[in-house]
Amino acid sequence: MQPQWAGESDPDALVEFGELARSAGATVVGALTARIERPNPKYFIGTGKADELATQKRSLEADLILVNHALSPAQERNLERLTECRVVDRTGLILDIFAQRARSHEGKLQVELAQLRHLATRLVRGWTHLERQRGGAIGLRGPGETQLELDRRLIAGRVKQLSERLRKVETQRGQARRARTRNAVPVVSLVGYTNAGKSTLFNALTGAGVYAADQLFATLDPTLRRIEGLSCGPLVLADTVGFIRDLPHDLIAAFRSTLAETRDADLLLHVVDAADPERERRIVEVQRVLAEIGAEDVPQILVYNKIDKLDGAGAPRVDRRDGGELRVWASAVSGQGLDLLRDGIAQRLTRERVRCWLHLPPAGGRLRARLFAQGLVANERPADSGWELEIDAPRALLEPLFGLPGGDGDWLREQVGAEG
Ligand code: GTP
Repeated sequence: MQPQWAGESDPDALVEFGELARSAGATVVGALTARIERPNPKYFIGTGKADELATQKRSLEADLILVNHALSPAQERNLERLTECRVVDRTGLILDIFAQRARSHEGKLQVELAQLRHLATRLVRGWTHLERQRGGAIGLRGPGETQLELDRRLIAGRVKQLSERLRKVETQRGQARRARTRNAVPVVSLVGYTNAGKSTLFNALTGAGVYAADQLFATLDPTLRRIEGLSCGPLVLADTVGFIRDLPHDLIAAFRSTLAETRDADLLLHVVDAADPERERRIVEVQRVLAEIGAEDVPQILVYNKIDKLDGAGAPRVDRRDGGELRVWASAVSGQGLDLLRDGIAQRLTRERVRCWLHLPPAGGRLRARLFAQGLVANERPADSGWELEIDAPRALLEPLFGLPGGDGDWLREQVGAEG
């Protein structure tokens, strides 16, 4: 998710950018690519290319130009003057999508903060050379609309206020996590790369006609739905925002806050596009971000979706990825493997408790600390060597510890007894 330089030569990047534009509500009437050796300080693209852009804009009667790069405020303004058209860069476009979709309190604060920071440098002058209405609302939605006319001093004040509020939200959340109890009805969150099929799977599992489109960010904040009829009892399924590659650096915080809820889920369905040649790399990226937001201990089922697109190897089945996470091969569109997935979810959520005494050897100090930290220990009694601990916990909370390094995980799995 590093910002990418000159992605125009990559056809996938262009397709993805088109999808982003459509997600924001734009209709794409034309595309122009440029090979850039060194960015032109005035326009970012070369002068000849800029003239070509102006000509194309006129002939296509476009009223908005989107640039798949971060532009400096001056470059944006110069291009606007030359083309007589609103210009929005990649950061502005993604922020616009965030502003439309963020609904959680923290998500909204983060998006507003990022948007104001982006706007602050672009505010001083420059809007007079354009009619505000042209180009629709893209890049001007959300707080931008009301803040545009304010001067930098006001914006700085607002940024300070928002940062302060966010700090409070984070503190409160930390406290809530410490006091965390299990959800009354288990919550299952869908996570994964954008376009992996989360919304389609959400619909397939809930039977709901929830908005699913071949659009990025069709779902930026969780959509919740209750599912009945599984052997584990009712559960709530939550759809979340999709990961996107090359997310501009300053937007990462805003994106992560939209994922914060996944920390409190009882189970994550990590949806993967099985037909994506980059799928393993993307799994690792998603896992890394989940770990960074503190969701690494939430049990996971990997859903290798879209098996209908795989030739040969595309049979629905259940196995384990590298001997680790449970993996269900399925298709949200054809419905293959969804029964297996339902069974897997029910199995994971069954509130099976593990109650047993463990005799930890003297070398088990780190594992002991971890078991205590997770609140899994009911009792401790002295032992001749090492420790004796009574474990009393839902199996689903113990299982993530089976992956601990240094032999601790394997030891625990053997003592507790792994299930099939
Ligand atoms: P974001 O909201 O952007 O995060 O995307 P998402 O992960 O929710 O993906 P979505 O459900 O919108 O699906 C993206 C595209 O993949 C749509 O065109 C779906 O029709 C398609 N798709 C989803 N599941 C499957 C599947 O099992 N097989 C096939 N062939 N296509 C699928």
